[in-house]
Amino acid sequence: MAERLDHIRRKIEKLREQIRYHDYRYYVLNDPVISDFEYDQLVEELRRLEEQYPQFITPDSPTQRVSGQPVEGFETYVHARPMLSLDNSYSEADIREFDRRIRKLAAGRPFNYVSELKIDGVSMALHYSEGRLVRAVTRGDGVRGEVVTENARTIRSLPLVLDDEVLSELLSRRRRSARADEVVVEVRGEVFLPREAFSELNRERAEAGEPLFANPRNAAAGTLKLLDPRIVAQRKLDMFCYALLVDNEHPFATHWEALQWLRRARFKVNPHNRLCSGIEDVIDYYEQFKERRDALAYEVDGIVVKVNQTALQEEFGATAKAPRWAIAYKFPARQATTRVKDIIVQVGRTGALTPVAILEPVEIGGVTVTRSTLHNEDEIERLGVKIGDWVLVERSGDVIPKVVKVIPERRTGRERPFKMPDRCPVCGGRVVRPPGEAIRRCISATCPAKLKAGLKFYAHRRAMDIEGLGDALIDQLVDRGLVKDFADLYHLKKADLMNLERMGDKSATKLLEQIEASKNRELYRLIFALGIRHVGERTAQILAEHYDSIQALMNASRQELEAIPEIGPIVAQSIYEWFREPRNRKLISRLKAAGVRMKRGPEAARRGTRLAGLQFVLTGRLASMTREEATRLIEQLGGRVASSVSRRTNYVVVGEEPGSKLDRARELGIPTLTEREFLNMVGRQ
Ligand code: IVH
Repeated sequence: MAERLDHIRRKIEKLREQIRYHDYRYYVLNDPVISDFEYDQLVEELRRLEEQYPQFITPDSPTQRVSGQPVEGFETYVHARPMLSLDNSYSEADIREFDRRIRKLAAGRPFNYVSELKIDGVSMALHYSEGRLVRAVTRGDGVRGEVVTENARTIRSLPLVLDDEVLSELLSRRRRSARADEVVVEVRGEVFLPREAFSELNRERAEAGEPLFANPRNAAAGTLKLLDPRIVAQRKLDMFCYALLVDNEHPFATHWEALQWLRRARFKVNPHNRLCSGIEDVIDYYEQFKERRDALAYEVDGIVVKVNQTALQEEFGATAKAPRWAIAYKFPARQATTRVKDIIVQVGRTGALTPVAILEPVEIGGVTVTRSTLHNEDEIERLGVKIGDWVLVERSGDVIPKVVKVIPERRTGRERPFKMPDRCPVCGGRVVRPPGEAIRRCISATCPAKLKAGLKFYAHRRAMDIEGLGDALIDQLVDRGLVKDFADLYHLKKADLMNLERMGDKSATKLLEQIEASKNRELYRLIFALGIRHVGERTAQILAEHYDSIQALMNASRQELEAIPEIGPIVAQSIYEWFREPRNRKLISRLKAAGVRMKRGPEAARRGTRLAGLQFVLTGRLASMTREEATRLIEQLGGRVASSVSRRTNYVVVGEEPGSKLDRARELGIPTLTEREFLNMVGRQ
């Protein structure tokens, strides 16, 4: 028995090691070496073992990153070494002046610099004791921060445990002797929200009528301080690490070596850091990244230049606010002032009316900006913007430029207030603003603007992937009445297409081929392409795992949808309502009649091995199928059915009037499933 348990413990530890390695490949190196499917299988297996043997669950297991409980508030913590800010420089002259100061302080001793990108986020300190993450503290006011460990743990690129060997390499360098369990390894870095996650978050907030985050830094700061780690986990925070202390001292002679150690220890270290022999090198680095900053997946607002030698750092010390051995060299602000020529209203896929400022063209950081979204009427009110106003426009964190503020000093009195229309500007249909929402929507079922935006979404590469069905074409198809819903796409004839502008024989043939090919896309793509509110790509995938056809999804009740762990009440409601709408049901049957695949296909059948290695025991009567049918179903999906409950049993399916097997399951702590949960699991609901 003990031997067997030991075997299980080792197996669990091995799985964790594997998952940690693959997390590292994926989240730190952006270079996964296994498929998502294989990864999911590893996690599934670990979860299963941990469920069966909860005594082996440890807080640093990859399954335990997100704790299920919101916290009441945050404790504060005094940093052993203050987390300082940086002095700023804005010109080459400034940075050369910094170099002169440093050379004077060094008084002839050799040194060099490390140049790093200045990430637009918030700094945080991680404390590891005995190789385990024990605490994460925000910068706070630099002296005292807040303990946000549960939130930090959701950052997937951040190791919860350190490798023994890499850790001993570090601890062997320690000067002071202390008991091993008292040593604190402190890693500092910048927590940030990648550009895409930031835009997505703001888009969602605009939709929900919540105030927008001004920039990724505010978004990262706000997210770190959320009380519910489950929400934090959805926000995709990330962290670049740039400082290392052991027992409050520098373990290495140079900053560069510390960065290399961090990398070996699997922290995410910015790959663009550069060791610079002198200030010319630093300036070159700055110039390069001033040009390249738009190509990065995260926002940077400059570079940070640091003296590499830690002994010199200690000697040069700090002023009250900032170290003398480092400085920020900021990129030019990507802001400009311009005039709002007009405010127009766009109608999106869901009928949402979005006000957009039409701007006097202005160049910001090499890009000519002509328009800027104003998101919704609350945002217009907050800004107080009128047509004709001079405004400050910024490109930051987001590819889409935004209006930062109005410049009231430049008002002439001829500015006109803007009012959101009561009718849809495209179809003239009725517009409603549901109570509690910031968004007005056109509720006309036949609004061409909604249809056009819906078709764009339907044809998107990540949805039904119809190459060649671009904006101009969609406009023509809708305007000429050739396409009135998604299903009409499948009835287009070559002759229809040949009549359109810029459409030759060859491109028409190709487009028809693409449309034909889209009939056979995976189920989740179709679910995604339908454009149901709150159903993004990931949710569509989850739904396609639980339901093997559109029909099954269509019949799902709200409660059933909510029972899926990743699906909350709002999403469940939205899906449920979408399928209750007669027009939508008609669309589904028309798509089906046109030959669009409505079921999970062979590529998902691989996923159908989802019961592989699992042993089930059935007890009691099932309402929806006989015991034989249930057995066959489990076996088809790679599982096994046993006649009695043992420790090897993974699940006991409990029907009506269950027998003693249920008691046995409880005794052994084997998880039980209701019929509905079982059907969900096998995708039959
Ligand atoms: S070093 C004492 N390195 O910029 C050294 N800071 O304006 C201070 N930041 O509070 C930190 N990227 O939040 C350092 N590569 C980087 C950074 C960085 C962003 C932030 C950090 C700091 C702020 C100062």
